[in-house]
Amino acid sequence: MDQTSEKKAFILTIDDDEINNMLLGAILEEEYEVVSILSGEKAIEFLKGRKPDLILLDLNMPGMNGFQVLEYLKQDKDLKEIPVIMLTAEMDQETEVKGIQSGAFDFLHKPYIPTLILTHVHRTLELISLQKRMQERINIQIQTTMNQLASTKRLFKQMVFALAKTIDAKDPYTNGHSQRVADYSREIAFRAGKSKTYQRKIFFIALLHDIGKIGVSGQVLNKPDKLTPSEYSSIKVHPIIGSSILSSVQEMEELQVGARSHHERYDGTGYPDGLAGQAIPEKARIIAVADVYDAMTSKRSYRDILPQEVVREELVKAKGTQLDPKFTDIMLQMIDEDVEYRMHE
Ligand SMILES: [Fe+2]
Repeated sequence: MDQTSEKKAFILTIDDDEINNMLLGAILEEEYEVVSILSGEKAIEFLKGRKPDLILLDLNMPGMNGFQVLEYLKQDKDLKEIPVIMLTAEMDQETEVKGIQSGAFDFLHKPYIPTLILTHVHRTLELISLQKRMQERINIQIQTTMNQLASTKRLFKQMVFALAKTIDAKDPYTNGHSQRVADYSREIAFRAGKSKTYQRKIFFIALLHDIGKIGVSGQVLNKPDKLTPSEYSSIKVHPIIGSSILSSVQEMEELQVGARSHHERYDGTGYPDGLAGQAIPEKARIIAVADVYDAMTSKRSYRDILPQEVVREELVKAKGTQLDPKFTDIMLQMIDEDVEYRMHE
């Protein structure tokens, strides 16, 4: 037995009859460390200082009887796992049923037969040790799975951030734009009462909303002057390029809705699909509000950050035409709370 190979298992016997205790000690002490205690009350005192691997507990004792001691043990979070073998004077099925229901592991009957006692004790300790080892293995397995899951989540997050940075690297005027749009979108979703999962998803979807700009010429993106009609049309394909890139992420099909639909307009005059109202995916409607807000509150080659009252006015004008009124109202509320106008590039 592995308990005895390194350290002897420790058994506590609790019996008011000293002769019985001595007898049990004599049978067990060759293989185990045995401590004998003569009452339930003293045993409970003893257990505050040391935890045995097994308890042999007499049923009939003056003061606390075996059932009361057992009840105490089962209510204590540090002691309830210790297996208890109950010692009874004779076979009594009713008592045994009550004992098992109260959490006793096994029963032994007086008079004691050494071989039988040793067998019961061996078996109990082995079963308990097996149970512990299995539980440890299960715990390790659970921990490993949790670590893998956390690592996968981190990997996903880092990949999305890396992708988002590639857009900002290509278009210096959108420096930090993806991150800010993601932050604003999450805040709007939070204020709209959306779940934690929704908020997390919209953050990532928004981070990648402009990913399609990777497919647009850098010269056009960086052009400080007014764009020609053909240059403007070349920029307008970025939602389609973006959604096509992200549609390959099959684990999260929704990832591409922001890229695809953030230039749709609530009145149906946007692009690329000309969707209107509720037909525009909700997350894209939120991202559109955040995107428009950030465009006005970021520097451009041809202008500085717009004054807050201008931004507010523009949003009021866009509400219900370009932008979803409900989410625009939330953005307006955020502006009104931003007394010192900190919310900008
Ligand atoms: Fe865009």
